[in-house]
Parts: sequence; structure tokens; C-alpha cells
Amino acid sequence: MFTLYHGDCLEVMHSIASESIDMIFADPPFNVGKKYGGKASNDNRLDYYHWCAAWIAEGFRLLKPTGTFYLMTIARHVFRMGCEMEKHGVFINKIEWRNVSASHSKRGFWPSTQPIVVFGKSEKYKFHTYAQRRKVDKPRWGGYTTQAQGQLLDYWDDIPFVYAGSIAHPEAILKPNTNQKAHPTQMPVNLVARCIMFSTDEGDTVLDPFSGSGTTGEACIKLNRSFIGIEREAEYVQMARERLTRVLLSPSLFTPSNSNGGDAPALRQSTLEGFTTHPGEGGSE
Ligand SMILES: C[S@@+](CC[C@H](N)C(=O)[O-])C[C@H]1O[C@@H](n2cnc3c(N)ncnc32)[C@H](O)[C@@H]1O
Repeated sequence: MFTLYHGDCLEVMHSIASESIDMIFADPPFNVGKKYGGKASNDNRLDYYHWCAAWIAEGFRLLKPTGTFYLMTIARHVFRMGCEMEKHGVFINKIEWRNVSASHSKRGFWPSTQPIVVFGKSEKYKFHTYAQRRKVDKPRWGGYTTQAQGQLLDYWDDIPFVYAGSIAHPEAILKPNTNQKAHPTQMPVNLVARCIMFSTDEGDTVLDPFSGSGTTGEACIKLNRSFIGIEREAEYVQMARERLTRVLLSPSLFTPSNSNGGDAPALRQSTLEGFTTHPGEGGSE
């Protein structure tokens, strides 16, 4: 099932049953003045930490005891976010995703990573070690081995950010007839897909309270997870709806084909029937 809500994350989260969600991936606005939905006032609030505390608490209410909360933020906020998460769950990791910031300052070092804070609802959180293998391409331990081995590190430098421009990232959704991204902060599918693979099983439900262009939804479709997305801006809800419909109708590399030459689109079509959009007033922060 895929459900996209057009509304305010807190209002919609209040309507969801406790302990019904397996994983949350939250990529909230960072209060740095981004223009979401073309509105300059949308990412600039005085009560930012108070507001984050409210949806973090609500997120933990929704998680099952085996559930995991991933919160992507920026270095400036990571300590406060960690403290809020600590009130409700158990620490798992602070991932650093290599994503060199566009804005740098002459009075500080240039930020090169984005933190993702990871907490389980309880010690019973899921973590799939089968996904642990990473490629080791240089001799390690004094040339001891060059075999693929080892735990995946908490430093993820292998997933490029979604860039626009004349040679855009293949996932970038562009404004018509331009080289500009249609959503200012579209993230790569593989970033959230990796989190989903480690922390959920097929059929589990993933919630993204700030679903934007629908990246988490795309990862869920590709990995056979159910998805609930919430987005305040109508234009992004529409963008995500079109994107998820495209993904649902496209043949999947991983969907088994039948003897008459592959029926992936038909299989996906049946899933599409479970795709609903809940219209709303757009809510307010
Ligand atoms: C950082 S972006 C998320 C981008 C998303 N991860 C993607 O790949 O497209 C944050 C999103 O949260 C939305 N947003 C801001 N405040 C919201 C609220 N109170 N409720 C729901 N969505 C909100 C913004 O419109 C924006 O699309």
C-alpha cells in the first residue's frame, strides 16, 4: 500500500495508530531559509527546536518496538536532534553522508557531510547484517586481504547527491525546459534504500513525514515495502504522485517475469490500485 497525504506532518501523524510503523525516514526542513513551494517564509521558524521535538515524539509513538527512526539533519542541529531522540529511543548510529554543502564560509571549515541520526524505539530494533558486506578495494592490515569483507562504515561516501545542471544526476526531476531541480532538496534513492534494507523486512511500513518529491516512496516500491508519505506543499504532492505512478508502472529488474516474456508492468499495475492520495489544505507549520 502506498499513501500520500497532503497536509501538515503533525496533524497527519496524530491520526495514525500507535505502534503501526516499522521505520521512519525524516528529512525535515533545516530552518535555513529554503524556498519550499516557492515561498520564502516556509523554512524560517523561531520555534524550530520545539517543533522538531513535537514530531520526533509523535514519530516514536507511531513506531513498533522493533522500529527504527532515521533523522537526516545538518551539523548545526545534530546535537539538539540527538538529545530529543535520546528521550524516546536507543542510540544506534550517527551516519555521515558525504554531501559537500553548496554554501561555505570564510569563518569556518566547509561542511562536507550531512549527519543522519539513527535510533531504535527499543533494544528490539531490527538490523539486517546480511546487508553488511562492503567492497574493500585496497589491501588492508598490511596487505593481508583484498577480498570484499567487513561491516559497512557509518561514513557513506558512495552515494552522490542529486545534482541538476546541464549534465544532471539521472534521478533529478527538473522543472520543464530548465536545468533546475523541481524540488530544491531531492535526495538520492539509494540513501534511503540502504536504510530501509538494513532496518525493515519486505512488507513493512515506512513513514516519511516530509516526503517532498517522493524519494522514500520510490525506494519502498523498489524494495516491496509499504509507504506513507506526508507533504505540506501541493506541488510536491503532485510531483511525488506522478513519480510514484511512473515507478509503479515501470518494469522492475527484481520482479520475477513469467513464461510469456515478463509481466512486470501488469504486476505493478495491481499494486497501483493500493495507491491513494489524501487531499488536504496543505496545513501550516
Ligand atoms: C528537505 S525536504 C524533503 C525532501 C525529500 N527527502 C526528497 O527527496 O524530495 C523537506 C520537505 O518537507 C516539507 N514540509 C515542510 N514543513 C512541513 C510540514 N509541517 N508538514 C509536512 N511537510 C512539510 C517541505 O515542503 C519539503 O518538501
